[in-house]
Amino acid sequence: MSKLAIHGGNPVRSRSFSVWPRPTSELKDAIISTLENEGWGVGSTAITRFEEKFAEFHDAKYCISTSSGTTGLWVALKAAGVKAGDEVIVPPYTFIATASAVLMANAVPVFVDIDENTLNIDPALIEKAITEKTRAIMPVHISGNPADMDRILAIGSKYGVSIIEDACQAHGAEWNNTKVGALGLGGVFSFQTSKNMTAGEGGAIISNDEAFYETCFSYHNCGRTKSGEFYEHQFLGGNFRLSAMATSMLMPQIESIQDDMDRRDKNRKQLDEALSQIDGITINGAYDGATRQANHIYLARYDESRFNGIPREIFFKAMQAEGVFTYMGYTPIYREKLFVTDTDEYPWLKDYDFVSMKMPVTERIADKESIWLKQNHLLGSAEDIQDIIDAFTKVTQALHKHPELFKDE
Ligand SMILES: Cc1ncc(COP(=O)(O)O)c(C=O)c1O
Repeated sequence: MSKLAIHGGNPVRSRSFSVWPRPTSELKDAIISTLENEGWGVGSTAITRFEEKFAEFHDAKYCISTSSGTTGLWVALKAAGVKAGDEVIVPPYTFIATASAVLMANAVPVFVDIDENTLNIDPALIEKAITEKTRAIMPVHISGNPADMDRILAIGSKYGVSIIEDACQAHGAEWNNTKVGALGLGGVFSFQTSKNMTAGEGGAIISNDEAFYETCFSYHNCGRTKSGEFYEHQFLGGNFRLSAMATSMLMPQIESIQDDMDRRDKNRKQLDEALSQIDGITINGAYDGATRQANHIYLARYDESRFNGIPREIFFKAMQAEGVFTYMGYTPIYREKLFVTDTDEYPWLKDYDFVSMKMPVTERIADKESIWLKQNHLLGSAEDIQDIIDAFTKVTQALHKHPELFKDE
């Protein structure tokens, strides 16, 4: 066995992985063309053109671009009729915005634990969390891996509750061969800089429901209506619009993401095949309906009991030294300080206790098991992926066979 890099050996890898975001000539040309020939903001054809194309790409009738995924989620919740004090069911293993958008809509995020096999909201636990205050369920397609939409949509219909998909990480993902996002009332994407399609910042809401779309339009555009006057405002909305420079940058990515997705699929398969052979590493699962994943972040799990009780953080340290950056990712979001709420500021939360909340699966995964690789790792060549596999193999073999090497870590 070659000497580990944390113990002075040669690292498996000393080069960086694929550059992200990619400043391609197509993006530069698109920005310059808009800069010189079209409106830069509200009313620009560069915005409507993108919205039409993104809707078509995502098997939806309507799309509204927004300033971010977070503002898109807020707009979608408001347009779904979420009112002060209503409850919205969300998973706790996600980016904070899934829950903070609910709070910003003066509503209550009700957390439902995740399924350890997919790290998505556990559909078997959702019904128990429904009350007469539940207005929406917001599954997150975590890492671009679709949540169990058949079961979630069935629960939504049974209780008359809207389904808003947080598809911020799921560009191009499919459920039963239909793109995610407009499977329920609507869904929201992010174009923030780490996402598989990016304009630096930005978001989009998609839907097949015309009334919902028109209400979203209003909330995202200062309460205006599509047919109303410029200074006519019907809802308490805001300026949550995306600029034409951003939508122009996104246009060529609707094409380029198709090749990226093929590459991500291939690389994911290579990684899954190799890592699933390692005792103590579990690759992430998917539901049968998940006919295509977006493969945003690569997720796996670490079982310290298979590695002589050596904690995951030591595995990370050894991997980092080998030149492959693995990390833990999310913590359970209800532990964030913002949930220690001041009831003067948030009176509608006074009967909810987030501080003593316990979600056993989320906590085990986040505290001990999750392994993340950033999305750019899945965009590399077969050789890049082989380096990742070699680093996993080298480190895990040492953890299995020579636990004594780690006693000082
Ligand atoms: C699951 C999820 N929800 C919401 C968001 C919020 O998107 P944004 O950063 O564009 O506001 C993100 C991304 O950052 C996300 O990953």
